[in-house]
Amino acid sequence: MRIVLRIGGSVLGSPPSAKMVEAYAKVVADLTFEGHSIGVVVGGGQIARDYIRSTAQMGLSNYQQDTIAIHASRLNARLVAMKLGGVSSVPTSIDGILQRLARNRVAVMGGLKPGITTDTVAAMVAQKWHADLLVKASDQAGVYTSDPRTDKKAKKLDHLTYEKMREILGGAHKPGIHSIIDPVAVDQLLQSRIRLVVLNGDDPRGVIKAVHGDKIGTLVS
Ligand code: UTP
Repeated sequence: MRIVLRIGGSVLGSPPSAKMVEAYAKVVADLTFEGHSIGVVVGGGQIARDYIRSTAQMGLSNYQQDTIAIHASRLNARLVAMKLGGVSSVPTSIDGILQRLARNRVAVMGGLKPGITTDTVAAMVAQKWHADLLVKASDQAGVYTSDPRTDKKAKKLDHLTYEKMREILGGAHKPGIHSIIDPVAVDQLLQSRIRLVVLNGDDPRGVIKAVHGDKIGTLVS
């Protein structure tokens, strides 16, 4: 299978936990051993948001805040890439990661451009690469009926349609947005209809379960 794995920066930690990076590297190695190809897209986490705050306090634009945050995600991506096989750079374009995926079983990238998050980068890679599955390893157990951080009555959904996902998660981008799936990615997925599993990234082995089709997190199809 062609799999895009989006690892939330909040899952890796800020700075990234060595244990977590190693655990994800093992998951990627195990999946490639099973014959899968994997495009990994890594987020910037709290460090990206700290930079966004400083940039905003300096009176700089949303575009500049996003631009700075992208560098944080690329730093995390590079760390993950190094652990996976000593790659010395990460691609900064969709074509760049696709070229690497044409040559190798695994390629890693971080952010792409202002106005989105790495959720959208992952959705774009998945669409252009004709991926079979997109997995988002997040800091929540899946997609909820509303934001579980602010609504105690929020219920986790096991399965939902792209349309329902848009009803729950649609909206507009802003720098540092912390949504389970960012609104631009939601629109992108509504178009491409790539199968998506959102799961709790604290257990990296959950990704393997999602690839094997076991019930985990939230399936969007
Ligand atoms: P990330 O996509 O790096 O977030 O976006 P994350 O840390 O993994 O988030 P979680 O863990 O899913 O919550 C962080 C910020 O970086 C900018 C945006 O400001 C975004 O909110 N960004 C990231 C871009 O502008 N473009 C990109 O391509 C990626």
